[in-house]
Amino acid sequence: MNRITTLFNIQYPIIQGGMIWNSGYKLASAVSNAGGLGLIGAGSMYPDVLREHIQKCKKATDKPFGVNVPMLYPNIEEIMQIIVEEGVKIVFTSAGNPKTWTSFLKENGITVVHVVSSSKFALKAQEAGVDAVVAEGFEAGGHNGREETTTLTLIPMVKENISIPLIAAGGIATGRGMLAAMILGADGVQMGSRFAASVESSAHQNFKQTIIDTKEGDTLVTLKELAPVRLIKNKFFNDLQELYAKCPTTEELKALLGRARAKRGMFEGDLVEGELEIGQIAGLIHDIIPVKEIIDSVIQEFEMAKKEAVLL
Ligand SMILES: Cc1cc2nc3c(=O)[nH]c(=O)nc-3n(C[C@H](O)[C@H](O)[C@H](O)COP(=O)(O)O)c2cc1C
Repeated sequence: MNRITTLFNIQYPIIQGGMIWNSGYKLASAVSNAGGLGLIGAGSMYPDVLREHIQKCKKATDKPFGVNVPMLYPNIEEIMQIIVEEGVKIVFTSAGNPKTWTSFLKENGITVVHVVSSSKFALKAQEAGVDAVVAEGFEAGGHNGREETTTLTLIPMVKENISIPLIAAGGIATGRGMLAAMILGADGVQMGSRFAASVESSAHQNFKQTIIDTKEGDTLVTLKELAPVRLIKNKFFNDLQELYAKCPTTEELKALLGRARAKRGMFEGDLVEGELEIGQIAGLIHDIIPVKEIIDSVIQEFEMAKKEAVLL
Protein backbone atom coordinates (compact mmCIF):
# COMPACT_ATOMS: atom_id res chain seq x y z
CA MET A 1 0.00 0.00 0.00
CA ASN A 2 1.19 3.53 -0.71
CA ARG A 3 -0.38 6.99 -0.96
CA ILE A 4 -1.86 6.35 -4.40
CA THR A 5 -3.25 2.86 -3.82
CA THR A 6 -4.76 4.17 -0.56
CA LEU A 7 -6.21 7.32 -2.17
CA PHE A 8 -8.05 5.36 -4.86
CA ASN A 9 -8.45 2.05 -3.00
CA ILE A 10 -6.74 0.08 -5.79
CA GLN A 11 -4.23 -2.79 -5.84
CA TYR A 12 -1.41 -1.29 -7.96
CA PRO A 13 -0.35 2.37 -8.31
CA ILE A 14 -0.98 2.25 -12.08
CA ILE A 15 -3.41 4.65 -13.72
CA GLN A 16 -4.62 4.44 -17.30
CA GLY A 17 -4.61 8.00 -18.58
CA GLY A 18 -7.78 9.37 -20.16
CA MET A 19 -7.27 9.31 -23.93
CA ILE A 20 -9.62 10.79 -26.51
CA TRP A 21 -10.95 8.14 -28.90
CA ASN A 22 -9.10 5.37 -27.04
CA SER A 23 -10.48 5.12 -23.53
CA GLY A 24 -14.11 4.17 -23.38
CA TYR A 25 -15.66 2.02 -20.66
CA LYS A 26 -14.17 -1.20 -22.04
CA LEU A 27 -10.60 0.01 -21.48
CA ALA A 28 -11.36 1.75 -18.18
CA SER A 29 -13.17 -1.24 -16.66
CA ALA A 30 -10.50 -3.69 -17.85
CA VAL A 31 -7.78 -1.62 -16.16
CA SER A 32 -9.78 -1.35 -12.94
CA ASN A 33 -10.56 -5.08 -12.99
CA ALA A 34 -6.83 -5.81 -13.41
CA GLY A 35 -5.96 -3.86 -10.24
CA GLY A 36 -5.14 -0.40 -11.66
CA LEU A 37 -7.31 2.69 -12.00
CA GLY A 38 -9.16 3.01 -15.30
CA LEU A 39 -10.31 6.39 -16.58
CA ILE A 40 -13.02 7.05 -19.14
CA GLY A 41 -11.81 9.79 -21.48
CA ALA A 42 -14.62 12.35 -21.64
CA GLY A 43 -12.71 14.56 -24.10
CA SER A 44 -14.09 12.77 -27.17
CA MET A 45 -17.61 12.19 -25.84
CA TYR A 46 -20.84 14.15 -26.13
CA PRO A 47 -22.51 14.36 -22.70
CA ASP A 48 -25.04 11.60 -23.53
CA VAL A 49 -22.29 9.29 -24.71
CA LEU A 50 -20.32 9.93 -21.52
CA ARG A 51 -23.36 9.03 -19.41
CA GLU A 52 -23.74 5.77 -21.31
CA HIS A 53 -20.05 4.90 -20.82
CA ILE A 54 -20.22 5.63 -17.09
CA GLN A 55 -23.30 3.42 -16.72
CA LYS A 56 -21.69 0.60 -18.71
CA CYS A 57 -18.46 0.93 -16.70
CA LYS A 58 -20.39 0.55 -13.44
CA LYS A 59 -21.82 -2.71 -14.79
CA ALA A 60 -18.44 -3.94 -16.08
CA THR A 61 -16.51 -3.46 -12.83
CA ASP A 62 -17.16 -3.24 -9.12
CA LYS A 63 -13.72 -1.67 -8.65
CA PRO A 64 -13.01 2.08 -8.48
CA PHE A 65 -12.79 3.92 -11.80
CA GLY A 66 -12.77 7.57 -12.81
CA VAL A 67 -13.42 10.07 -15.58
CA ASN A 68 -10.86 12.33 -17.25
CA VAL A 69 -12.16 15.77 -18.21
CA PRO A 70 -9.91 17.89 -20.43
CA MET A 71 -11.25 21.36 -19.72
CA LEU A 72 -10.54 22.69 -23.21
CA TYR A 73 -13.58 21.01 -24.75
CA PRO A 74 -17.15 22.44 -24.77
CA ASN A 75 -20.10 21.27 -22.61
CA ILE A 76 -17.99 21.14 -19.42
CA GLU A 77 -20.90 22.21 -17.15
CA GLU A 78 -23.09 19.45 -18.53
CA ILE A 79 -20.28 16.91 -18.25
CA MET A 80 -19.58 17.80 -14.61
CA GLN A 81 -23.30 17.56 -13.84
CA ILE A 82 -23.48 14.07 -15.34
CA ILE A 83 -20.42 12.99 -13.37
CA VAL A 84 -22.12 14.05 -10.13
CA GLU A 85 -25.50 12.57 -11.08
CA GLU A 86 -23.95 9.21 -11.98
CA GLY A 87 -22.04 9.06 -8.70
CA VAL A 88 -18.54 9.01 -10.22
CA LYS A 89 -16.06 9.10 -7.33
CA ILE A 90 -12.81 10.08 -9.08
CA VAL A 91 -12.15 12.85 -11.64
CA PHE A 92 -8.87 13.70 -13.39
CA THR A 93 -9.03 17.21 -14.86
CA SER A 94 -6.54 18.39 -17.47
CA ALA A 95 -5.83 21.22 -19.91
CA GLY A 96 -7.22 24.09 -17.87
CA ASN A 97 -7.20 25.93 -14.56
CA PRO A 98 -7.56 23.57 -11.55
CA LYS A 99 -9.34 26.34 -9.62
CA THR A 100 -12.36 26.26 -11.94
CA TRP A 101 -13.88 22.93 -10.94
CA THR A 102 -11.99 21.50 -7.95
CA SER A 103 -14.21 22.97 -5.19
CA PHE A 104 -17.41 21.93 -6.98
CA LEU A 105 -16.16 18.37 -7.38
CA LYS A 106 -14.81 18.16 -3.81
CA GLU A 107 -18.12 19.49 -2.42
CA ASN A 108 -19.76 16.57 -4.19
CA GLY A 109 -17.47 14.07 -2.47
CA ILE A 110 -15.27 13.44 -5.52
CA THR A 111 -11.53 12.76 -5.36
CA VAL A 112 -9.87 15.24 -7.74
CA VAL A 113 -6.56 14.90 -9.56
CA HIS A 114 -5.17 17.50 -11.96
CA VAL A 115 -2.68 16.93 -14.78
CA VAL A 116 0.22 19.42 -15.08
CA SER A 117 3.46 19.75 -17.02
CA SER A 118 5.38 22.06 -14.65
CA SER A 119 6.15 22.59 -10.94
CA LYS A 120 4.41 25.97 -11.11
CA PHE A 121 1.11 24.42 -12.12
CA ALA A 122 1.59 21.50 -9.72
CA LEU A 123 1.73 24.05 -6.93
CA LYS A 124 -1.35 25.85 -8.29
CA ALA A 125 -3.21 22.54 -8.38
CA GLN A 126 -2.21 21.81 -4.78
CA GLU A 127 -3.39 25.29 -3.76
CA ALA A 128 -6.68 24.69 -5.57
CA GLY A 129 -7.24 21.74 -3.23
CA VAL A 130 -6.74 18.70 -5.49
CA ASP A 131 -5.98 15.34 -3.87
CA ALA A 132 -3.07 14.45 -6.15
CA VAL A 133 -1.23 15.68 -9.21
CA VAL A 134 -0.22 13.95 -12.44
CA ALA A 135 3.07 15.44 -13.66
CA GLU A 136 3.36 14.69 -17.35
CA GLY A 137 6.68 15.00 -19.16
CA PHE A 138 7.36 16.04 -22.75
CA GLU A 139 7.70 12.40 -23.90
CA ALA A 140 3.98 11.86 -23.44
CA GLY A 141 1.41 11.22 -26.12
CA GLY A 142 -1.48 13.62 -26.60
CA HIS A 143 -1.42 17.29 -25.63
CA ASN A 144 1.78 18.45 -24.15
CA GLY A 145 3.51 21.16 -22.10
CA ARG A 146 5.05 24.16 -23.87
CA GLU A 147 8.12 24.06 -21.62
CA GLU A 148 9.32 20.71 -23.02
CA THR A 149 10.31 19.45 -19.55
CA THR A 150 11.00 15.72 -19.67
CA THR A 151 9.69 13.24 -17.10
CA LEU A 152 13.20 12.60 -15.76
CA THR A 153 13.60 16.25 -14.76
CA LEU A 154 9.96 17.09 -14.06
CA ILE A 155 9.22 14.46 -11.39
CA PRO A 156 11.96 15.35 -8.88
CA MET A 157 11.26 19.07 -9.36
CA VAL A 158 7.53 18.68 -8.77
CA LYS A 159 8.32 16.44 -5.80
CA GLU A 160 10.41 19.24 -4.33
CA ASN A 161 7.48 21.67 -4.59
CA ILE A 162 4.37 19.78 -3.47
CA SER A 163 3.41 17.59 -0.54
CA ILE A 164 0.32 15.84 -1.97
CA PRO A 165 0.64 12.48 -3.80
CA LEU A 166 2.42 12.62 -7.15
CA ILE A 167 1.71 10.50 -10.22
CA ALA A 168 4.32 10.43 -13.00
CA ALA A 169 3.32 10.30 -16.67
CA GLY A 170 5.14 10.42 -19.97
CA GLY A 171 7.39 7.71 -21.32
CA ILE A 172 6.33 4.95 -18.94
CA ALA A 173 5.20 1.62 -20.39
CA THR A 174 7.18 -0.99 -18.46
CA GLY A 175 7.94 -2.09 -14.91
CA ARG A 176 11.43 -0.62 -15.17
CA GLY A 177 9.97 2.71 -16.27
CA MET A 178 7.53 2.58 -13.38
CA LEU A 179 10.32 1.86 -10.86
CA ALA A 180 12.45 4.68 -12.29
CA ALA A 181 9.59 7.16 -11.89
CA MET A 182 8.94 6.01 -8.35
CA ILE A 183 12.62 6.26 -7.41
CA LEU A 184 12.51 9.85 -8.71
CA GLY A 185 9.75 10.58 -6.19
CA ALA A 186 6.44 9.54 -7.76
CA ASP A 187 3.86 7.62 -5.73
CA GLY A 188 2.35 6.07 -8.84
CA VAL A 189 2.37 6.17 -12.63
CA GLN A 190 -0.08 7.08 -15.36
CA MET A 191 0.39 5.33 -18.70
CA GLY A 192 -1.34 6.28 -21.94
CA SER A 193 0.41 4.99 -25.06
CA ARG A 194 0.84 1.45 -23.67
CA PHE A 195 -2.91 1.15 -23.06
CA ALA A 196 -3.80 2.70 -26.44
CA ALA A 197 -2.25 -0.42 -27.98
CA SER A 198 -4.33 -2.84 -25.93
CA VAL A 199 -7.10 -5.15 -27.05
CA GLU A 200 -9.66 -3.18 -25.02
CA SER A 201 -8.70 0.28 -26.35
CA SER A 202 -11.45 1.74 -28.52
CA ALA A 203 -8.91 2.94 -31.11
CA HIS A 204 -9.19 1.68 -34.70
CA GLN A 205 -7.12 -1.43 -35.45
CA ASN A 206 -5.11 0.59 -38.05
CA PHE A 207 -4.05 3.02 -35.33
CA LYS A 208 -3.16 0.22 -32.88
CA GLN A 209 -1.02 -1.44 -35.59
CA THR A 210 0.67 1.91 -36.32
CA ILE A 211 1.55 2.31 -32.62
CA ILE A 212 3.43 -0.97 -32.60
CA ASP A 213 5.11 -0.12 -35.93
CA THR A 214 6.23 3.28 -34.57
CA LYS A 215 9.97 3.50 -33.99
CA GLU A 216 12.16 5.77 -31.91
CA GLY A 217 12.07 9.25 -33.47
CA ASP A 218 8.79 8.77 -35.35
CA THR A 219 6.84 11.29 -33.24
CA LEU A 220 7.23 15.04 -32.78
CA VAL A 221 5.37 17.79 -30.93
CA THR A 222 3.67 20.27 -33.22
CA LEU A 223 0.90 22.90 -33.28
CA LYS A 224 2.43 24.79 -30.36
CA GLU A 225 0.54 27.94 -31.40
CA LEU A 226 -2.81 26.18 -30.85
CA ALA A 227 -2.31 23.40 -28.29
CA PRO A 228 1.00 21.49 -28.47
CA VAL A 229 0.42 17.84 -29.37
CA ARG A 230 2.75 14.89 -30.03
CA LEU A 231 1.95 13.23 -33.34
CA ILE A 232 3.21 10.39 -35.50
CA LYS A 233 4.78 11.75 -38.70
CA ASN A 234 2.24 10.94 -41.40
CA LYS A 235 0.94 12.90 -44.41
CA PHE A 236 -1.13 15.23 -42.22
CA PHE A 237 1.96 15.93 -40.10
CA ASN A 238 4.02 16.60 -43.26
CA ASP A 239 1.32 18.97 -44.55
CA LEU A 240 1.67 20.88 -41.28
CA GLN A 241 5.46 21.03 -41.72
CA GLU A 242 5.05 22.42 -45.23
CA LEU A 243 2.67 25.06 -43.94
CA TYR A 244 5.09 25.97 -41.12
CA ALA A 245 7.79 26.61 -43.73
CA LYS A 246 5.57 29.46 -45.00
CA CYS A 247 5.33 31.10 -41.54
CA PRO A 248 1.56 30.62 -41.26
CA THR A 249 -0.85 32.62 -39.13
CA THR A 250 -2.74 30.87 -36.33
CA GLU A 251 -5.84 31.07 -38.52
CA GLU A 252 -4.08 29.21 -41.33
CA LEU A 253 -2.97 26.49 -38.91
CA LYS A 254 -6.53 26.18 -37.58
CA ALA A 255 -7.83 25.93 -41.14
CA LEU A 256 -5.46 23.08 -42.00
CA LEU A 257 -6.25 21.26 -38.75
CA GLY A 258 -9.96 21.58 -39.47
CA ARG A 259 -12.38 19.55 -37.42
CA ALA A 260 -12.33 15.98 -36.14
CA ARG A 261 -8.78 15.12 -37.31
CA ALA A 262 -8.11 13.12 -34.14
CA LYS A 263 -11.31 11.11 -34.56
CA ARG A 264 -10.47 10.49 -38.20
CA GLY A 265 -7.01 9.20 -37.39
CA MET A 266 -7.38 7.26 -34.17
CA PHE A 267 -11.03 6.16 -34.23
CA GLU A 268 -11.74 5.83 -37.96
CA GLY A 269 -8.27 4.59 -38.86
CA ASP A 270 -7.36 7.16 -41.55
CA LEU A 271 -3.58 6.95 -41.25
CA VAL A 272 -3.00 9.48 -44.03
CA GLU A 273 -5.17 12.48 -43.22
CA GLY A 274 -5.88 11.80 -39.53
CA GLU A 275 -4.17 13.12 -36.40
CA LEU A 276 -2.28 10.23 -34.74
CA GLU A 277 -1.42 11.03 -31.11
CA ILE A 278 1.12 8.81 -29.36
CA GLY A 279 4.08 9.11 -26.98
CA GLN A 280 7.78 8.57 -27.66
CA ILE A 281 7.59 5.29 -25.73
CA ALA A 282 5.63 3.77 -28.66
CA GLY A 283 9.08 2.70 -29.89
CA LEU A 284 9.12 0.22 -26.99
CA ILE A 285 5.60 -1.12 -27.53
CA HIS A 286 5.67 -4.19 -29.74
CA ASP A 287 2.35 -5.94 -29.25
CA ILE A 288 -1.39 -5.37 -28.94
CA ILE A 289 -2.31 -7.39 -25.87
CA PRO A 290 -5.12 -7.52 -23.29
CA VAL A 291 -4.96 -5.01 -20.43
CA LYS A 292 -4.53 -7.73 -17.81
CA GLU A 293 -1.38 -8.98 -19.55
CA ILE A 294 -0.02 -5.42 -19.68
CA ILE A 295 -0.57 -4.80 -15.97
CA ASP A 296 0.66 -8.24 -14.89
CA SER A 297 3.85 -7.89 -16.92
CA VAL A 298 4.49 -4.34 -15.70
CA ILE A 299 4.14 -5.47 -12.08
CA GLN A 300 6.28 -8.56 -12.66
CA GLU A 301 9.07 -6.49 -14.25
CA PHE A 302 8.70 -3.81 -11.54
CA GLU A 303 9.26 -6.40 -8.78
CA MET A 304 12.21 -7.96 -10.62
CA ALA A 305 13.82 -4.58 -11.30
CA LYS A 306 13.42 -3.64 -7.64
CA LYS A 307 15.44 -6.71 -6.65
CA GLU A 308 18.09 -5.97 -9.28
CA ALA A 309 18.33 -2.37 -8.11
CA VAL A 310 19.47 -3.53 -4.67
CA LEU A 311 22.52 -5.08 -6.33
CA LEU A 312 23.64 -1.88 -8.07
C1 LIG B 1 -3.99 8.89 -27.95
C2 LIG B 1 -3.85 9.72 -26.72
C3 LIG B 1 -4.89 10.53 -26.33
C4 LIG B 1 -4.80 11.28 -25.14
N1 LIG B 1 -5.87 12.03 -24.73
C5 LIG B 1 -5.84 12.64 -23.52
C6 LIG B 1 -7.01 13.26 -22.99
O1 LIG B 1 -8.09 13.24 -23.59
N2 LIG B 1 -6.91 13.87 -21.77
C7 LIG B 1 -5.74 13.88 -21.05
O2 LIG B 1 -5.71 14.43 -19.95
N3 LIG B 1 -4.62 13.29 -21.54
C8 LIG B 1 -4.66 12.64 -22.72
N4 LIG B 1 -3.57 11.95 -23.16
C9 LIG B 1 -2.40 11.81 -22.25
C10 LIG B 1 -2.53 10.52 -21.39
O3 LIG B 1 -3.61 10.60 -20.51
C11 LIG B 1 -1.25 10.23 -20.60
O4 LIG B 1 -1.01 11.20 -19.63
C12 LIG B 1 -0.03 10.13 -21.50
O5 LIG B 1 -0.32 9.30 -22.60
C13 LIG B 1 1.14 9.55 -20.73
O6 LIG B 1 2.28 9.45 -21.53
P1 LIG B 1 2.63 8.13 -22.41
O7 LIG B 1 1.84 8.26 -23.65
O8 LIG B 1 4.09 8.27 -22.66
O9 LIG B 1 2.26 6.93 -21.60
C14 LIG B 1 -3.63 11.21 -24.36
C15 LIG B 1 -2.57 10.39 -24.77
C16 LIG B 1 -2.68 9.64 -25.92
C17 LIG B 1 -1.55 8.73 -26.31
